[in-house]
Amino acid sequence: MNKDSKIFIAGAAGMVGSAIVRNLLKKQFRNIVGTWHSKSPDPQIYQPYNRLGELPEALKLNQVDLTIQNQVRSFLEKEKPDYVFFAAAKVGGIQANNEFPADFIHKNLTIQGNIIHSAYQFGVERLLFLGSSCIYPKEACQPIKEEYLLTGLLEPTNEPYAIAKIAGIKMCEAFNRQFRTQFIAIMPTNLYGPNDNFDLTTSHVLPAMLRKFHDAKQTGTKEVVIWGTGKPRREFLHVDDLADFSVFAMALQDEVVKKQFLSYPYPCFVNVGTGKDLTIEELAHLVKNIVGFSGSVVFDQSKPDGTPRKLLDISRLSALGWKPSIELEKGIEDTYKWYRATK
Ligand SMILES: NC(=O)c1ccc[n+]([C@@H]2O[C@H](COP(=O)([O-])OP(=O)(O)OC[C@H]3O[C@@H](n4cnc5c(N)ncnc54)[C@H](OP(=O)(O)O)[C@@H]3O)[C@@H](O)[C@H]2O)c1
Repeated sequence: MNKDSKIFIAGAAGMVGSAIVRNLLKKQFRNIVGTWHSKSPDPQIYQPYNRLGELPEALKLNQVDLTIQNQVRSFLEKEKPDYVFFAAAKVGGIQANNEFPADFIHKNLTIQGNIIHSAYQFGVERLLFLGSSCIYPKEACQPIKEEYLLTGLLEPTNEPYAIAKIAGIKMCEAFNRQFRTQFIAIMPTNLYGPNDNFDLTTSHVLPAMLRKFHDAKQTGTKEVVIWGTGKPRREFLHVDDLADFSVFAMALQDEVVKKQFLSYPYPCFVNVGTGKDLTIEELAHLVKNIVGFSGSVVFDQSKPDGTPRKLLDISRLSALGWKPSIELEKGIEDTYKWYRATK
């Protein structure tokens, strides 16, 4: 990958896609194209690599509905990207997954089929598919290794989404075997950071906590209620670290990619996490202190806890020579600053 390579970010308005764009801009890549879907991205999500209110010169954005095959085909035919970061997906928390299971499986399978097939047709050199740690069995041993995929039943609430993601991995693997493509995949743990979703009905645990503590501080509420016992352990990775690894993986030497991602039946994907987890109770107190909320934290034990522990094994990630650099406390502080500045 060189600085003039044509690089396509599918989902450039999303949390991960915008972080990958920022990382590429920071590394001075000059020829980036991205797609957005329902809402034209606010240029401020690409800061500090642009002037306020303007898109960076190195970035061109197009509105494309990636579920529509003709649109995807025409876009790739016209742009002929060398590299594709595949960060577009129908994403949501438990509630959304429960209410719209058909959308989660149908839209994700359709988007994946369209992008992966067109990337092959138009000769993309390397594609990086974003999966998720929900692909692993609910009862997987901890920490979770890549080879545990398809060794047990999935968490029922997000099974349709997880099945679509597993199909995405298997499509990459099948295209690599049949057509000698370099379609690789990464499985990130829980992500957080700028451009996250802070809507309390659809957000993930960390942005939801930030929002709850912030709102309670603003309104002078005496207590914040967190679902469950606070005992489950979770792992969190800053999205800028994930973006840094995505660009690192895209630029790996061919020999490394062949050995680490394309030696079927060796998995064509790698876990991306920190290797460290903490309890939800510890996280709640960390967020409370960062926000500066002085009331109390109450755990509503009548609400479900979910899986007791979900920690990724990062041996393969470490062997590639990369590690995250943003400590959780600093990452949450920065995310909170971003939230206050943009809300
Ligand atoms: N967030 C996490 O904690 C996390 C953890 C592990 C893995 N991941 C993975 O990372 C990837 C990106 O997630 P994210 O957190 O960045 O989600 P996000 O912020 O919701 O970004 C996803 C982007 O995909 C776009 N998209 C959805 N449907 C589309 C369509 N039909 N046509 C074109 N674009 C479409 C969305 O645009 P609209 O909103 O306009 O539809 C959105 O901008 C996903 O594959 C996800 O599984 C995320």
